[in-house]
Amino acid sequence: MANQYQMSVPVPFVPGSEFAGVVTEAGPGVSGFGPGDRVMGTLMAGAFAEEVVLAPRSLSRIPAGVSDESAAAFGVAHRTAYHALRTIAAAQPGERLVVLGAGGGVGLAAVQLGAVLGLDVTAVASSDDKLAVALACGAANGVNHKGMPGGPAERQRGLRDELHPDGTDIVIDPVGGDLAEPALRSLCWAGRFVSIGYASGTIPKIPLNLVLLKGCTVRGFQMRDLSAHEPQAVRRDEAELHELLSSGKVVPHVGAAFKLSEAASALRHVADGKAIGKVILRVG
Ligand SMILES: NC(=O)c1ccc[n+]([C@@H]2O[C@H](COP(=O)([O-])OP(=O)(O)OC[C@H]3O[C@@H](n4cnc5c(N)ncnc54)[C@H](OP(=O)(O)O)[C@@H]3O)[C@@H](O)[C@H]2O)c1
Repeated sequence: MANQYQMSVPVPFVPGSEFAGVVTEAGPGVSGFGPGDRVMGTLMAGAFAEEVVLAPRSLSRIPAGVSDESAAAFGVAHRTAYHALRTIAAAQPGERLVVLGAGGGVGLAAVQLGAVLGLDVTAVASSDDKLAVALACGAANGVNHKGMPGGPAERQRGLRDELHPDGTDIVIDPVGGDLAEPALRSLCWAGRFVSIGYASGTIPKIPLNLVLLKGCTVRGFQMRDLSAHEPQAVRRDEAELHELLSSGKVVPHVGAAFKLSEAASALRHVADGKAIGKVILRVG
């Protein structure tokens, strides 16, 4: 909506990228879905609405026993976090994972999924409230980067020291800004740094010699590109995710709920950094 994303949506548009609901109509030639089916899905824009129209390939059935709220909250953040851990970072049980923005949608999903994959998760967030939720969602440790004394440079050094230099196997970074470099410095030899987004508003500039010295890998991805370039890995990840959701091993954390008519307040809640996990709009 601020038009600061990698891609623009032509205006005017209805915001919202993920939803859950019930099929009311299927177009001619559509098979696999019919009226009454409970479905969840993702689209670039249009989900903050009573009705959406979209292609069946963007839909999946909500597993029995999964609430509409969990289904709506699952689409983008958990898929992004799981692909990052499973396909991009090739995470292995027992590895040490640092998650930046651990109170946010993608960050908290990465904490939950990292714990389910058997990783030793350190959550980094800006408040003790966010860290408390991250710890409840499976993080073994929490680091409050805002609580560190001094200016930005001292806080960066403090975060690097707190994360134990050379002690991290994988960093998941949906935030960028000042947090990225100290997190990368905490990587061990051949560690993996996954750049997912820049919620801080600043795309970090990393000294390339750090990559040389650590023998580490820095990779980023966008969901839509991953599906196009690594379809087999995405299919495997989707199947595993479906099992995690339907078995109840992973339940998205919904930190707040608003009415559809309060969508602007919900967006303000997120933009002000108050959201923990996902924020839901209740329609009807
Ligand atoms: N690559 C992909 O395919 C993909 C997919 C989904 C999302 N993304 C991107 O990933 C990023 C995170 O998405 P999300 O859904 O997790 O967002 P979110 O729920 O809003 O969480 C973002 C987190 O970033 C931190 N943050 C630091 N400075 C911030 C600022 N100025 N404004 C807002 N947040 C700030 C906050 O954590 P603290 O309070 O702890 O600092 C917040 O919890 C976004 O940039 C999004 O575009 C990318």
